[in-house]
Amino acid sequence: EKGGFDHFMLKEIYEQPNAIKDTFRGRLRADEGIVKLSSVEENLQKFLNADRILIVACGTSWHAGLVAEYILEEFTRIPVEVEYASEFRYRNPIIRKNDIIIAISQSGETADTLAAIKLAKEQGAFVYGVCNVVGSSISRETHTGSYTHAGPEIGVASTKAFTTQITVLTLMALRIGQAKGTLSRADFHRYLQELDHVPQKVEQALEHNLEIQAIASKYKDAPNCLYLGRGYNYPVALEGALKLKEISYIHAEGYPAAEMKHGPIALIDEHMPVVIIAPKQEHYDKIVSNIQEIKARNGKIIAVVTAGDVQVKKLADYVIEIPETSDALSPLITTIPLQLLAYHIAVMRGCNVDQPRNLAKSVTVE
Ligand code: F6R
Repeated sequence: EKGGFDHFMLKEIYEQPNAIKDTFRGRLRADEGIVKLSSVEENLQKFLNADRILIVACGTSWHAGLVAEYILEEFTRIPVEVEYASEFRYRNPIIRKNDIIIAISQSGETADTLAAIKLAKEQGAFVYGVCNVVGSSISRETHTGSYTHAGPEIGVASTKAFTTQITVLTLMALRIGQAKGTLSRADFHRYLQELDHVPQKVEQALEHNLEIQAIASKYKDAPNCLYLGRGYNYPVALEGALKLKEISYIHAEGYPAAEMKHGPIALIDEHMPVVIIAPKQEHYDKIVSNIQEIKARNGKIIAVVTAGDVQVKKLADYVIEIPETSDALSPLITTIPLQLLAYHIAVMRGCNVDQPRNLAKSVTVE
């Protein structure tokens, strides 16, 4: 049942090229310049008239929501807010006529997300769901939505659900951006082609598994770990830290790289590993100077870099290469090495990777 893998989590990490492909199958036709989600087509006017999109979710799904915030705002120019479902539901949130609520949930059963949807519906909002489990409570409770086609996710730590959620939300952003004209024709076509090639790039990222395992062996006994990223990769830093803490029980925190100097830098010494997502992207020079600041304090750097990188390689203790992608689509690739790193560290520490202590696959309690 684990298909030759030691754990469901590893199997599911390796399923991502196909899970992403299955999620855009029939929805993305790059060569014809077509992106289509039936639930978006049926409600296109609502999306075109939206004053705001409010995303509600928990945990990893909330991180996918943060990535979607960056993508949706860039492609559609619709203001987006992302909120923990548990906070949203208990604080009398402001919901206006032309707001759209998007609920993201792998299981479709998360109690707080379900309650947030019910609250939004009571206030007359249009609610769109992004779920993996077909027929789940959230998929039934929302007005419409799109399924991720990740297949069953058994490992408690979410992996392929995350990348397929981002895939659906990217398809949505591309279609709305095209319809609104906020995305240029050239960019639209370029992103379609790129998204079509993402599964192949995920495959290439997975090829670094053994190197990542070797890096894991160096840091498996660390008591703490810091994850840093900028822009589209800031939520990936949060997700990388969550993966590590939930399965290896190492304390980890994710931060936007530039926030380091506002506090976390005090933690840096020769014992602190810092995982830094540093692909060739906008503000690369800023990430390089963050790395210099960490090295000046003897911190240990594990950097995720674009293949062929020179500058970060000179500074980092270890690098993990990923293929080149545009900034907006990079989270789908940069996430992969962080999942593998957390996985190997947890295995080396003898942790129960698929069923970490105190965690359940769907959180149906409030
Ligand atoms: C993390 C994890 C949890 C879930 C969260 C939301 O690996 O699995 O943080 O992401 O409980 O669950 P869903 O997406 O089912 O609503």
